[in-house]
Amino acid sequence: MVRYMVTSALPYANGPIHAGHLAGAYLPADVFVRYLRLRGEEVLFICGTDEHGTPITFRALKEGRSPREIVDEFHEHIKTTFERAKISFDYFGRTELPVHYRVSQEFFLKALENGHLVKKVSKQAYCEHDRMFLPDRYVIGTCPYCGAENQRGDQCEVCGRPLTPEILINPRCNICGNPITFRDSAHYYIRLKDFEERLRRWVEKQPWKPNVKNTVLSWIREGLEDRAMTRDLDWGVPVPLDDEDVKGKVLYVWFEAPIGYVSMTVEHLKREGRENDWKKFWLNLDGETRVIHFIGKDNIPFHAIFWPIFLMAYGKYRDGEVEAEWNLPHDIPANEYLNLEGRKFSTSRNWAIWVHEFLDAFPADYLRYYLTAIMPETRDSDFSFADFKVKINEELVNNLGNFVHRALTFVNRYFDGIVPERGELNDLDREAFEEIEKAFAEVGELITGYRFKDALKRVMELAIFGNRYFDHQKPWKTAKTDRVRTATTVNVSLQIVKALGILLEPFLPDASEKIWHLLNLEELKRWKFEELPAGHRVRRATPMFRKVTDEDIIHFILRYMARENTEGARLLLDKYYKREEVVKVALERFGNEDEARAILKSLYGEEIPDKTEKKKGRKEAKNMDYVSFDEFAKIELKVGRIVEVKDHPNADRLYVVKVDLGGEVRQLVAGLKKYYSRDELLNKTVVIVANLEPKKLRGVESQGMLLAADDGKNVALLTPDREVELGAKVR
Ligand code: MF3
Ligand code: ZN
Repeated sequence: MVRYMVTSALPYANGPIHAGHLAGAYLPADVFVRYLRLRGEEVLFICGTDEHGTPITFRALKEGRSPREIVDEFHEHIKTTFERAKISFDYFGRTELPVHYRVSQEFFLKALENGHLVKKVSKQAYCEHDRMFLPDRYVIGTCPYCGAENQRGDQCEVCGRPLTPEILINPRCNICGNPITFRDSAHYYIRLKDFEERLRRWVEKQPWKPNVKNTVLSWIREGLEDRAMTRDLDWGVPVPLDDEDVKGKVLYVWFEAPIGYVSMTVEHLKREGRENDWKKFWLNLDGETRVIHFIGKDNIPFHAIFWPIFLMAYGKYRDGEVEAEWNLPHDIPANEYLNLEGRKFSTSRNWAIWVHEFLDAFPADYLRYYLTAIMPETRDSDFSFADFKVKINEELVNNLGNFVHRALTFVNRYFDGIVPERGELNDLDREAFEEIEKAFAEVGELITGYRFKDALKRVMELAIFGNRYFDHQKPWKTAKTDRVRTATTVNVSLQIVKALGILLEPFLPDASEKIWHLLNLEELKRWKFEELPAGHRVRRATPMFRKVTDEDIIHFILRYMARENTEGARLLLDKYYKREEVVKVALERFGNEDEARAILKSLYGEEIPDKTEKKKGRKEAKNMDYVSFDEFAKIELKVGRIVEVKDHPNADRLYVVKVDLGGEVRQLVAGLKKYYSRDELLNKTVVIVANLEPKKLRGVESQGMLLAADDGKNVALLTPDREVELGAKVR
């Protein structure tokens, strides 16, 4: 039976990850893997941080810290961010693991033993001022292929070609800015030519995305040059040779990083007590394993040319029990780039959506929904706040959230929350079941074809169908005339809700969980539709999502983008909002007014006049039905327990209740008689307004107020959803 080894590109542990990374290599892989798991497939999803190479040492140098400090910090940071984004790796490792050193060195030695590595002395970039060799990123200059200026010596950001310092035009030291010189240095080079033919024949028959295939084939057409697999750097995996010429040097990061996929699998399965199982994922023992690498487009040559060649250069793996070739990648679904508001992401200029910050402001599902909806699968795409708001509010909230809510509300309103028996099906009911089946088949097919954007759209089409179905069947009308018809409509609607609960899991794991909770289901989700049985009790309807407001967006831009990139934030705010709106949000949403003022000043270069603006803000807030935080904070809300309930001596609708606030007992008068019996109230934990002016109601003093929700028909007391001390503050 087929098994899957799924990987996402190992992010450099030199900074946080941004939305472009997520949309490129992590989210698509996660959707794919979650789907496979629902199908019951055998799958391993492996990733981890790439902790070597000049991206790390260069940042360390700039910040005056050690590389180890940097990688330790960002390994944890990135790992946590992925967890918050619900990326469901089976294991998230790092290339600083001892097993990784061992496996990488073994790959190097095998390639050497097989004659594919040759030692050559060549001129290497050197800085006379800093007195050191300058590996790739330490050199900047003009790209010889496309003429882009200020490109680093590892890769051209404009045309995507891997570079080396020697081929840059006008190369300069990236530390001190001086022109560089070249000095002799010995390195081991891999003879890529040895594999040209084999690589071409293999790639030609792969059904890969054109962007990946074309890159490989055009590279081969131009001829593959030898490439150095070692570096003059003191941080990384040491070259495993007793050779004076390469003493103190390390393996090239792009040689060892992809080997991380293997070493991390070894580590993971060892920790699971399955020491030998890595072999069935990485060695071609039975032809059944599919290794699939999810990457961004800048990683294509490294995964589709170098990495397969490294696997070939190793030759056969042998140990006491097996002898086999390595599995070459089965597929390399590479995504294009994500832009931000029409411009390229730039981490150095903070023109980026940092995932950890975005998740402070919005739920993970919102980010996942939006990034999947605009996933750059075949061409670059654009993250725009305006579009984010529209997609969340119109699609997630108005379509999906609304449908789920309608179905749950009706089953509660008319059938006491119990899935009713269906009557005879009409054409539209039958169509609903067909739609469910079709959705499972089509979404599955789209995911398998790496068409995640369309797959999500297809799921949302089922929700659109659900709303249409509901509108046509009009249960609010039939409720008065035809109970069986209403029952059928509600039953079928709930079947659609359940289907959505499964179909959404790969994309929006939290929403899927919420649906499962609302439906009161505990069964394991599987990619297969099984009906919700009549007689099953579901929970009360609660809203699935809330809308994204302009205030949310302004607040996000102010809080997270303005500080490091004032100009960019200003540009964005000016594009969408009036200055007054921005000022208002800043003053209202920042906990600290001085901070708000400082940010506004840096943005607009002028002080926000104190009293007047503030008053104006207040006044506007009044018109908008807002209360300021200060006003809200004045209201004291406390948790208490009802310890006594009596009838009011002079009023039929009222009770006189005593509430224990932990040390203090209050007497309140409450209009609850119509909704609660005395027994129902007694011992209930409730929330009261504790500092309401005491007032006599029909001659009895009330020292506060009980909080209850009122929809016009029903009244429900608020009660904390877990145990807290009496007297606890509600805020
Ligand atoms: N760290 C690289 C990047 O961020 C990706 C490494 S992927 C691996 O571009 F294959 F090398 F692991
Ligand atoms: Zn270039």
